[in-house]
Amino acid sequence: MERDIKKIVSEMTLEEKAGMCSGQDFWHLKSVERLGIPAVMVSDGPHGLRKQPDTGDHLGIGESIVAVCFPAACAVASSFDTELINEMGKTLGEECQAEDLSVLLGPAVNIKRSPLCGRNFEYLSEDPYLAGKMAAAYINGVQSWDVGTSMKHYAANNQEFRRMSCSSNLSERAFREIYLPAFETAVKEAQPKTIMCSYNKINGVYASENRHLLTEILRDEWGYEGYVMTDWGAVADRVKGIVAGLDLEMPGSGGFNDAKIVAAVKDGSLDEALLDQAVERILKVVFSYVDNRHPEAVFDRDVDHEKATAIETECAVLLENNGILPLKADAKVAYIGEYASKPRYQGGGSSHINSSKVSSALESAKTKNRTVSYVKGFPFDKDEENEEELQAAVQAAKEAEVAVIFAGLPDVIESEGYDRKDMRLPACQNKLIEAVAAVQPNTVVVLHNGSPVEVPWADKVAAILEMYLGGQGVGEATDRLLYGEVNPSGRLAETFPLKLEDNPSYLNFPGDGLNVDYAEGVYVGYRYYDTKKMPVRWAFGHGLSYTTYEYGNLKMPGETLTDEGCVKVTVDVKNTGNVAGKEVVQLYVSDKNGTAGRPVKELKGFAKVALGPGETKTVEFTLCARDLSFYHEGLGDWYAPSGTYGVLVGCASDEVALEGTLSFETKKSLPLHIDGSTTVGQLLENPVAAPIVGEMMQKMQSMLGGDTAETLGSGEEMAEAMAMGMPLKSLASFAGPEAAAKIEQMMGTLNQMLGN
Ligand code: BGC
Repeated sequence: MERDIKKIVSEMTLEEKAGMCSGQDFWHLKSVERLGIPAVMVSDGPHGLRKQPDTGDHLGIGESIVAVCFPAACAVASSFDTELINEMGKTLGEECQAEDLSVLLGPAVNIKRSPLCGRNFEYLSEDPYLAGKMAAAYINGVQSWDVGTSMKHYAANNQEFRRMSCSSNLSERAFREIYLPAFETAVKEAQPKTIMCSYNKINGVYASENRHLLTEILRDEWGYEGYVMTDWGAVADRVKGIVAGLDLEMPGSGGFNDAKIVAAVKDGSLDEALLDQAVERILKVVFSYVDNRHPEAVFDRDVDHEKATAIETECAVLLENNGILPLKADAKVAYIGEYASKPRYQGGGSSHINSSKVSSALESAKTKNRTVSYVKGFPFDKDEENEEELQAAVQAAKEAEVAVIFAGLPDVIESEGYDRKDMRLPACQNKLIEAVAAVQPNTVVVLHNGSPVEVPWADKVAAILEMYLGGQGVGEATDRLLYGEVNPSGRLAETFPLKLEDNPSYLNFPGDGLNVDYAEGVYVGYRYYDTKKMPVRWAFGHGLSYTTYEYGNLKMPGETLTDEGCVKVTVDVKNTGNVAGKEVVQLYVSDKNGTAGRPVKELKGFAKVALGPGETKTVEFTLCARDLSFYHEGLGDWYAPSGTYGVLVGCASDEVALEGTLSFETKKSLPLHIDGSTTVGQLLENPVAAPIVGEMMQKMQSMLGGDTAETLGSGEEMAEAMAMGMPLKSLASFAGPEAAAKIEQMMGTLNQMLGN
């Protein structure tokens, strides 16, 4: 049914329109019965349904319906599998239709700037390219059921400490290259029906009233068509919000802010057309749901539990393995640690799901009659040492052929609402792992955490399997992976530094509560570690398998890439082992032109490839100018200098298997305003100035006296280097009055030619 939304809006009173721009209660928008507008419901998200009664909360404390908890974003991102997350989105979309939810509040795509952010488990990656592609696939999945998503938290919300009022202070370049692209990609590739703006300020302006963010970038540049809602309680000045491009306030302020909108329209300080525009955007999304209900949708919790389990098997990352895994079916194994029976599988806060059931590795082992003993070792919910339990664990480990320790972060350490204080596991767990590894060389550690931890015992154990917060099927998924029913294929979507202090945000996280300065700029995650050539515990993209892969035949295009065109790069990947597996082929781009301030490599393509034993497949990537570019603040646009770019293909940011080069030519030129500080080198780089300056320099050679030549250095290279870095004001003073006058004249001419 085609609705005439404009007509509906024209029939609404001013009060009804203002009212439409805020929620009726915690989870519903308002209805206007006489115009056939129903009160639709929204719900968290992102990895399951937290549908609550009307009097709910945004903290994940109160009751919500029994639902299915899928792996959290930290895990799903590690699958590097856009089809998988798309399928997960489709399942959630169907669940929403069955439960009459018009919008699912997710995905959460903020960049993992520091491993300490309490909400990292809900975020996808430290890399904006990966986060954007995964987010777009998720959104397309959910929305294929005519249910909206709310991509959040837009933007630069990278910590929990004072998240509701702190100002994230960052350069436009870091904003564009690191913190915005995940949103940008998802808007361009999936058009989420709604976007949730964040609580925080950006360079001093609240996201909820930030026109640069909500209109100039989001709509004018990216072409966003849906509506923007606030995070729960994120409004500061409601009228400024409408002007900036904020459409819906959630959960609503009981009419307090609606009245301000009405008053502002009446006194002429708010253009009513802006209010109409917000209402139109909201109603478009409301009716796109209302008019496309799916009576055939079912929420089958058992079926979806199986899906959640299968998804998690594709997400877990095998971090270390000396060959002990997969376990032999008849191995005598000791399971140690309470997470074996009570896994930590989800994070705290607004994404908390009331799970229909939870599988544990211990229960799976029992069901499958595995030879497994169990000792608690340490509690799942606190850091509490117990000598007796530790000794029992050591004893059990000695008596078994293999010890599997189920370690992780308790709920209290990691949640929405606060950040972690350090990157450590509870001391009781570290102590136990050391003690068990000392008596049992075949010690395997299984981790349950939403963000990296320090692993001081990493070199003393035989294998480490990272399950992340794997959703309610995590126990069964762990069993399948440990015993080789499924071959691990997850790869880290974030770096595990050796220690917290190595992280680039360390000196500036989380700020003083009023401000947090993103002083590391674009050097986030592997962009920093790889550029600094720093050792890390496990690199971005790292993950092992029960088979091996080989790369070959990297084919680069012969032609030069230009501003408009795109080129194809292909590479062969072969499974050289005896079992089937899935490899994540990663493509990074590297600027080889000596451009200042660029990370040594950046992810610009990835593909997950299923390969039978001995099988080879060719993977194809497409590269366009934007993939080579950085955001040039002076130009106010993306820019890549003409020249050579490395194309690196491999299985982790620190494991490049093959490297090729690509040449690029741009027609874009950088803005140049010439004054006394401008150097000869800068002029020679500019296509307009170069010929004129070159000619003048030649003429000047003869005019420069002996002293000046000496000043410029005797060696030819040195002289050239000095001349290139010489500002025009100094050149003029060295060259004498006649030449100085010529230089001044030239500066004027060039500025004119450059349109300054
Ligand atoms: C969170 C959002 C969530 C909302 C509603 C807020 O506190 O930041 O992610 O969707 O509450 O529960």
